Amino acid sequence: MRTRFLSAFVVAAFATLAAAAYARSKLFVEKCAKCHGEDGKANTPKGQKMKARDFSDPEFQKSKTDAQLIDAVTNGTDKDMPPFGKVLTAGKIETLVKEDVRGFAGT
Ligand code: HEC
Repeated sequence: MRTRFLSAFVVAAFATLAAAAYARSKLFVEKCAKCHGEDGKANTPKGQKMKARDFSDPEFQKSKTDAQLIDAVTNGTDKDMPPFGKVLTAGKIETLVKEDVRGFAGT
């Protein structure tokens, strides 16, 4: 009985962890998902039209450093990524890159 309770608890804890790993921040959904999609795969009409990259692609993740991605979000890119340096704080941009964009790896 006790064991069963414990294993139910462990399963619930893991389910919560797994859910947290895939949860997008509210900020990403508000400011970025329009083009990059809530799943980061850019499967949105705007994302497809603008050819935004698939953030879940391991090749993409490997090809850029955190600093490059932070720079792209702050200053924009010549490939239509708009700059967010004036709308979001540096701390928020760093979190978006390190937790949201990196969080899509392998999903
Ligand atoms: C108006 C559409 C649009 C919005 C909104 C948008 N992006 Fe982008 N983003 C793009 C396009 C287009 C690119 C360039 C193509 C590519 O490499 O994905 C891009 C590229 C990127 C890249 C890759 C840059 C690189 O060096 O390869 C990152 C990281 C990124 N966006 C993060 C974000 C974050 C975080 C937000 C929200 C704060 C956001 N984007 C909002 C369209 C958008």
